[in-house]
Amino acid sequence: MSKNTAVKPRGRIEPPTLVAIREAADLLRAGDIVGMPTETVYGLAADALNPEAVKKIFAAKGRPADHPLIVHLPSADHLPRWAASIPKDAIALARAFWPGPLTLILKRAPDVPDEVTGGQDTVGLRVPSHSIALAMLQVFGSGIAAPSANRFGRISPTTAAHVQQDLGERVAMVVDGGPCAFGIESTILDFSRDAPEILRLGAITPDAIARVIGRRPRVRGKAEEAQSADAGQANAATLAPRVSGALAAHYAPGTPLRLVAPALLVDEAATLAGEGSRVAVLAYGQDDPQDSRLIWQAMPADPAAYAHDLYASLRTADTLDADFILVEALPDDPAWHAIADRLGRAAVGSGEGR
Ligand code: TXA
Ligand code: MG
Repeated sequence: MSKNTAVKPRGRIEPPTLVAIREAADLLRAGDIVGMPTETVYGLAADALNPEAVKKIFAAKGRPADHPLIVHLPSADHLPRWAASIPKDAIALARAFWPGPLTLILKRAPDVPDEVTGGQDTVGLRVPSHSIALAMLQVFGSGIAAPSANRFGRISPTTAAHVQQDLGERVAMVVDGGPCAFGIESTILDFSRDAPEILRLGAITPDAIARVIGRRPRVRGKAEEAQSADAGQANAATLAPRVSGALAAHYAPGTPLRLVAPALLVDEAATLAGEGSRVAVLAYGQDDPQDSRLIWQAMPADPAAYAHDLYASLRTADTLDADFILVEALPDDPAWHAIADRLGRAAVGSGEGR
């Protein structure tokens, strides 16, 4: 470790110089945890082969220990070190989308620590495309376990400042890679069973996957959610508990959040304001009605730009001391589905911080 590491305060944000990248790798080797930028969201990084370091991730996040972590690799060449078997389609997808926002769930190699896999016989693997993440991985030279660097159940961080706000001195340092390009977490594709299945939607869509492997993956939750809606049950009960990104209540602001159909948005906001509520609104299509009782935030109408801004906008809306956050419901189009998924979960889990 470099000599002056000990005197530097924990939780500090460092610009992404080679010195900072080396220092982050040294801290990882020493068993500490650091904030790492990726193209999706910021990760809370630890040496994936050091169980004691991985345990610090769970403690810092307040996350249940049986939730598995994604291992980030410097390149696809490292796959055989971590996966016991690699299906041909998984290799094709790695070629097509790595480095990038796709996580593959594969049968794990025998010595991948249980702390990383949550005791399951599978491991989640991805090669991130953020240049600073890749540099950290190359200097570190091995797998980095990293969940999103937020407290469990809260909104994922898309800037170094978000990580610092959430985790403070729990992390040794945060490497500042600027705002994350994608802004929502990677697509998770499970190859550990008979047919590939998407466990979490992301920027790599089912159609994009189908174009590479010649078949459309099932999307976990869709059929079950439709079924349970018919039966009048809560969606949460049917979703895999081991995938925290699939828990119904996730990515949640402390302020109650409601999704409102575009045509009803302005009226509903005005009604709540009329009842004396303080109302924040995130709208991508409806024009600002210039009602001084509303805190109106115009969102991008393009899905990639919307995803980029989403978590930062939710975090800001959550600091306004509002009684409600109203979010204009999104178009029912594949380009918006991953974002709609996150907003749906944010709505379910919202309001607990008050
Ligand atoms: O974009 C991302 O994936 C970000 C960045 C930092 O890479 N990471 C991220 O990690 O979102 P996390 O831990 O917040 O979400 C990863 C999800 C969790 O829901 C976890 O349960 C699931 O991946 N997961 C990891 N390993 C798994 C496995 N072996 N089987 C099933 N699910 C797994
Ligand atoms: Mg997360």
